[in-house]
Amino acid sequence: MKAAIITGASSGMGRRFAVQAAKGKVDELWVVARREDRLKELEQELDVPVRIFPLDLEQPGSVCVLENALKEGNIRVSLLVNAAGFCKFGKTAEQSRAEVTGMVALNVAALTAVTQAVLPYMERGGRIIQIASVAGFQPLPGMNVYAASKAYVLHYSRALNRELKKQGITVTAVCPGWTKTEFFDVAKQTENPGEVKNFPLMSRAEDVVRKALKDSEKGKDVSVFGFHNKLHRLGAKLFPHRLVMAAWERIKN
Ligand SMILES: NC(=O)c1ccc[n+]([C@@H]2O[C@H](COP(=O)([O-])OP(=O)(O)OC[C@H]3O[C@@H](n4cnc5c(N)ncnc54)[C@H](OP(=O)(O)O)[C@@H]3O)[C@@H](O)[C@H]2O)c1
Repeated sequence: MKAAIITGASSGMGRRFAVQAAKGKVDELWVVARREDRLKELEQELDVPVRIFPLDLEQPGSVCVLENALKEGNIRVSLLVNAAGFCKFGKTAEQSRAEVTGMVALNVAALTAVTQAVLPYMERGGRIIQIASVAGFQPLPGMNVYAASKAYVLHYSRALNRELKKQGITVTAVCPGWTKTEFFDVAKQTENPGEVKNFPLMSRAEDVVRKALKDSEKGKDVSVFGFHNKLHRLGAKLFPHRLVMAAWERIKN
């Protein structure tokens, strides 16, 4: 049985990945998120059998549920997308302990744990797509822990791509810029939502996902949608990060 696994499938980019994955050569789609009702709605829309995992991935034990399901079935995984993630705007000292550790727990620890759990079941030619962010190209005051978590995803995924070359598994770190999803509702539910006020050059989730799937098929280790985001990546490589951070502090408000 061939399966695709998508975390964060209840909204935004994860949901788009799930819809696209269901059109591919898979026997089953496994979807993970906290909002079970949303996952059930998604199931209704898709023509492929869907297995729903209503899990809070911030809880360390939750990944075992997925792992046990993999152990029980005769499953080969052709696609894993780690799209579950969140951001909270604000300076670190203004944020609650739950916010800062939650971002690390989901964006870093859960992504790593899910990848590790799924790896033994990945088939040759399988693909892993990890949602990082342009925020990972440099440190970002006012989105500090989030940006640091995405720098981890970017580095971890690029090195993993090399480690898995002999097994024929591709890992692609997707680095979206601002993208129209529920991300902003979540990011603004915090002590100081006005810490980041400007969101220029917003992308559409479907465009980011289409480009990510294409880049993953081509075996690319990084996928960046949009000229402005590519320019951002280049700028973060060329200029000292103290200058990039100073520019960001002017732009964000
Ligand atoms: N939108 C942007 O501007 C942007 C830019 C760069 C990178 N990204 C990254 O893109 C990824 C997808 O985000 P999005 O923009 O599509 O935002 P979104 O619509 O808010 O989607 C986030 C997904 O993560 C899931 N999630 C959140 N907390 C979870 C938890 N504790 N356990 C399990 N699932 C959880 C949510 O489902 P439930 O709430 O149902 O659990 C939802 O399905 C994230 O990693 C985000 O950091 C977004």
